[in-house]
Amino acid sequence: MASRKLEIALPRHKAEFDQDSEYCSVLLDGTWQTIRFHDYDRIFAVPGLYEQLFHDILDCRSPDVIGKLLKEETQRAGVATSALRVLDLGAGNGLVGEQLRAVGVGHLVGADILPRAREAALRDRPEVYDAYHVLDLTGLTPEQERTLTASSFNALACVAALGYGDIPPAAFRAAFNVVADGGWIAFTIKDRFLSAEDTSGFAELVRRCRETGVLEVRASERYRHRLAVTGDPLHYVALVGTKRADIPPDLLP
Ligand SMILES: C[S@@+](CC[C@H](N)C(=O)[O-])C[C@H]1O[C@@H](n2cnc3c(N)ncnc32)[C@H](O)[C@@H]1O
Repeated sequence: MASRKLEIALPRHKAEFDQDSEYCSVLLDGTWQTIRFHDYDRIFAVPGLYEQLFHDILDCRSPDVIGKLLKEETQRAGVATSALRVLDLGAGNGLVGEQLRAVGVGHLVGADILPRAREAALRDRPEVYDAYHVLDLTGLTPEQERTLTASSFNALACVAALGYGDIPPAAFRAAFNVVADGGWIAFTIKDRFLSAEDTSGFAELVRRCRETGVLEVRASERYRHRLAVTGDPLHYVALVGTKRADIPPDLLP
């Protein structure tokens, strides 16, 4: 994907930011506009902004990390990545999908709650997804359920999209449950959301999934997801495992 170089400025007074309130200024049509990092609708509307901001300036590594970890673990298990049928949840404009294709996954479907994410993925990476659905996994219509089931997924990928008012535990559970038993689960999440300080519900959900044997973790790695606007590292955990059974409703926190 080639797009013009944008002028992007990070805030000068950096001390007071947490990840949820980060923003930048972007020169668009001669006017500096302030855009919150979590305003994906506006970010995806500008070709190249997501890539320049998060990957070029803030050095985001998450798509690479999950692609590499999934490839290593499937190889270790003697499974060809070409046999994977992946649901990429919170797919955004397709950077994770691109990486999953680079490691050879055979069938790839994107899903995101934002119509603009789908538009951006089809605009910027039209060759990456076999299909890309706009949907809310906490309230699937019967037709959406049928469509997802028909894809016969044996893998779920979800990168940098859990918690923070993005994907809630109930939506993650719904996506997890459309993957076949024995399938691959690969996700990244902020390290705090797996810690005792977590308020997102994911620490408890992942703990219960592991303890009840619903999820068998094969590899987990803490890594630097990207830099914050302050220049400090933001650490996430990448986890790859095998789904052993559906997540029952009572496992949700
Ligand atoms: C930080 S972006 C990550 C995009 C992509 N996974 C990547 O790593 O480049 C988070 C994405 O999650 C999506 N998202 C947020 N809440 C969601 C939900 N409830 N269901 C599906 N997608 C959601 C957002 O629209 C956005 O595209």
